[in-house]
Amino acid sequence: MNTVPLESHVWVDGRLVGAEAPVLSAYDRAFQVGDGVFETIRVVGGRILELPLHAERLRASATALEIPLPADVGTTLRDAIGGLLAADGLDAPGLQVSVRATLSRGPVWSRNLLPPADVRPVLVVQAWPVAPPEPELLARGLHLAISAVRRDPSSPLAAVKTTSRAEFVFARLEARRRGADDALFLTLDGHLAEATSASLFLVVGHVLATPALECGVLAGTTRQWLLRWAGAVGLSAREDWLTPDDLYRADEAFLASSVAGVLPVTRVDGRPIGDGRPGARTLRARADREAYAKDEA
Ligand SMILES: Cc1ncc(COP(=O)(O)O)c(C=O)c1O
Repeated sequence: MNTVPLESHVWVDGRLVGAEAPVLSAYDRAFQVGDGVFETIRVVGGRILELPLHAERLRASATALEIPLPADVGTTLRDAIGGLLAADGLDAPGLQVSVRATLSRGPVWSRNLLPPADVRPVLVVQAWPVAPPEPELLARGLHLAISAVRRDPSSPLAAVKTTSRAEFVFARLEARRRGADDALFLTLDGHLAEATSASLFLVVGHVLATPALECGVLAGTTRQWLLRWAGAVGLSAREDWLTPDDLYRADEAFLASSVAGVLPVTRVDGRPIGDGRPGARTLRARADREAYAKDEA
């Protein structure tokens, strides 16, 4: 579906406007050169999950690109999301919503890559209702394809959520051509990194393993939660340099992100992971994270 629902809104710098209103300049830097940063946030029944973590990460991303941000961006986001969801009736009990906050450096008339000092950044907040994953997908698990695009952990931007997402789009197209649901990035030297919009986890015996932050992966909010969760269910958490062989030999694998939660991975480049079915620990992680999202949001 590629039509914006009638009567829906977006929040732009403190104003609620029609979702298709012309609000951005053609000179906008996020449009022109991907000079912006963003966050994707989960809302359940009008309550925002882990907002402080997202606000902090948006600030870190903006700082990496020297884009000015409101001093109290957490409060700005809370008010923006509250107003937007109320206007669009997306704050009803139990309703699952994905919110995107995008910060562009704003309109810059000059063609220089180097931005001038006097910029007017633009903050946009959008919301989408989210359907739970299809039961068939949860039962079969995701199939991943290892991308030809490699992640360079030494790049200062490797783990920054910028709006320059061409490599991620390329990887998703590549995965679709190969009949997979998502792509998996490796580092330049062949270690596991992450999927296009989710962190990767392996279960090996009693160990819950995930690529270390030094592998150039995003510091995922769900990743952080799962590393704490491991202890509570008798798994020992390990952040490490992992290889595709570790993945092929793992008992279970899954992806994790704020909106989609935990999703089993059962096949990578056509090879089954574990017994080729979603594992018990993966399903427990999904159930526990969903319960937390409903209670804590
Ligand atoms: C590249 C990438 N890795 C991991 C994640 C998962 O992060 P989080 O758990 O904070 O949603 C995302 C989420 O958008 C992402 O884009």
